[in-house]
Amino acid sequence: MAGISTHVIIVGNEKGGSGKTTAAMHLIVALSRAGFKTGAMDLDIRQKSLSRYLENRAKWAIKHDLELESLPIPQLFPAPFSNDDSRQRAFTLETAGFQEALQKYATCDFLVIDCPGANTHLSRLAHAHADTIVTPMNDSFVDFDLLAKVDPDTGEILGPSLYSEMVWEARQTRAKAGVMGGIQWIVMRNRIGAANAHNKKRVGEKLENLSKRIGFTLTRGFGERVVYRELFTMGLTLLDLGAPGIPTRLSSMSHLTAKQEIRNFIAALNLPAKAETADKRVA
Ligand SMILES: Nc1ncnc2c1ncn2[C@@H]1O[C@H](COP(=O)(O)OP(=O)(O)OP(=O)(O)O)[C@@H](O)[C@H]1O
Ligand SMILES: [Mg+2]
Repeated sequence: MAGISTHVIIVGNEKGGSGKTTAAMHLIVALSRAGFKTGAMDLDIRQKSLSRYLENRAKWAIKHDLELESLPIPQLFPAPFSNDDSRQRAFTLETAGFQEALQKYATCDFLVIDCPGANTHLSRLAHAHADTIVTPMNDSFVDFDLLAKVDPDTGEILGPSLYSEMVWEARQTRAKAGVMGGIQWIVMRNRIGAANAHNKKRVGEKLENLSKRIGFTLTRGFGERVVYRELFTMGLTLLDLGAPGIPTRLSSMSHLTAKQEIRNFIAALNLPAKAETADKRVA
């Protein structure tokens, strides 16, 4: 939809704290390490977590004297946010600014856009330009509520809810614009663990049912691991650990399992191998 051949991946969910920035950063690093030219855009204007994650990464690289080959850092341009007093003018400026911003990533194979946990104009725009949408969610009925309305008495799914309606609109916008190919939507179950196993099983069953009705693919996400918080402050991802020049002190067996989880998640996205790098597989 971008009018560029870059494959646009949106990481979004209106629910705050579901793992969007963590997933976006791991995707960026996985794609960069696989040899793809990867761009990043941070649409979370308030928290700017992805920008801060990347700043931490740049600081780590400088402090440890690492080259880009050892610690790839994606291209990041400022989000085209407008704080014009007129809402309408702000929307118009952001729409034009977003198109311009996309052009800056025209030479990238992939662009990963981290969205805020809220329904903003920029987030809606980005969703309508997605080739792939990745939605991390916690295995809870609170998160499920943003995907579907459920009858509180019977537990029956009544229809789509806030966030799935946004994805539906994005699909409509894309179809009306005559862009070939639909939006692939992946819902990723994050923070998988043994806690509340019964509840999670029920959420899982409901998600399976919902995936067919509103058109998403359900995938396993990342396990519950405290290391993610520590990695943010260092600007690193699990995929960096043990790479040349990166300390291995964090590379334990459990992190090897975690790395595999991330690789499985990325393989499940079924991303295209780009023409220029057709020999590479995205996994
Ligand atoms: N699988 C996981 N295991 C443990 N902690 C996690 C996991 N995924 C994310 N976290 C932690 O949960 C917190 C929220 O994650 P993150 O910032 O990625 O969510 P978000 O959806 O981007 O939040 P926001 O909506 O505020 O932007 C962070 O501290 C992160 O380190
Ligand atoms: Mg975030």
